[in-house]
Amino acid sequence: MNSDQGGANPSAANSVAGNPDYVLGHSDHELNRLRAQARLLEPVTRQFLREAGIAPGMHVLDVGSGAGEVAFLAAELVGETGSVLGTDRVPSAVAIATQAARERGLHNVQFRAGDPAELTFERRFDAVVGRYVLPFQADPSAMLRGLARHLVPDGLLVFHEPDWTCVRSFPPAPLYDEACRWVDETTRLTGQSWNFLDRAHAAFAAADLPAPTMRMHTFLAGASQTHEWLMAVADIVESLLPTIIEQGVATAEDIDLATFRERLCAEVTANDSVIVGRSEIGIWTTAPPATDC
Ligand SMILES: C[S@@+](CC[C@H](N)C(=O)[O-])C[C@H]1O[C@@H](n2cnc3c(N)ncnc32)[C@H](O)[C@@H]1O
Repeated sequence: MNSDQGGANPSAANSVAGNPDYVLGHSDHELNRLRAQARLLEPVTRQFLREAGIAPGMHVLDVGSGAGEVAFLAAELVGETGSVLGTDRVPSAVAIATQAARERGLHNVQFRAGDPAELTFERRFDAVVGRYVLPFQADPSAMLRGLARHLVPDGLLVFHEPDWTCVRSFPPAPLYDEACRWVDETTRLTGQSWNFLDRAHAAFAAADLPAPTMRMHTFLAGASQTHEWLMAVADIVESLLPTIIEQGVATAEDIDLATFRERLCAEVTANDSVIVGRSEIGIWTTAPPATDC
């Protein structure tokens, strides 16, 4: 869809350490993967947003909207009397999210291209929300500081971020463990680690924000209930494949994409493994009064 924005070949545009672009780009495959992943994440995000205090009537800014799924969830929670403005720095993602909002008949959601930490808006928001966005910033605390400017006094900053440090299987399913290592190592090597647990608290402190509330959810299931998560892992490996190879983390032969999904599932079943998946980190706080907009 948008090879002009580094979407078709993630490795070509995003392999430099510290590169602020999203490592997986915005190809059709990646946007479809985000939608499938959103179905898996929806109950967790919903719980984080609710517990943090997203409620009817609120006006919400969503940062890094991608295909728009978090904005749509927030729109449901704020209802007809509230509103959501989704933002993404990639215009093609904004176009797709806008089209999806139209197809769903949602009138309380709009999307705008750009980095909201740097944009100006006509109004302040009751809350800023974001999912899977802070770890991809060169300086997450700078983004938090920029976003807090857009909040009403005591407005909410609510994030749902990933962490791969706790993934494991027991008895071991070596291909699963190996695939998670490919993902973890590759994203670290690109300078865009998908682990945010070790940085989350410090990022809020460095942005002079009150100590955040933190929650952790983890996918955890026995062999017969792991299919959806294993397919999510396989989707990530497929999206990340050129970068995994380019970074020298694994070869195309090691991965053997044509048989990868089948082998992954067969091994977990054969070993009757319990699978621990990615951790989902909820992190939120209220912002002190902003001085400018
Ligand atoms: C992993 S995707 C997550 C999309 C969506 N939040 C979800 O959970 O389905 C991250 C998105 O954030 C966008 N993004 C990353 N940094 C951004 C920034 N500083 N400003 C605006 N968008 C950003 C990327 O373009 C990408 O679409």
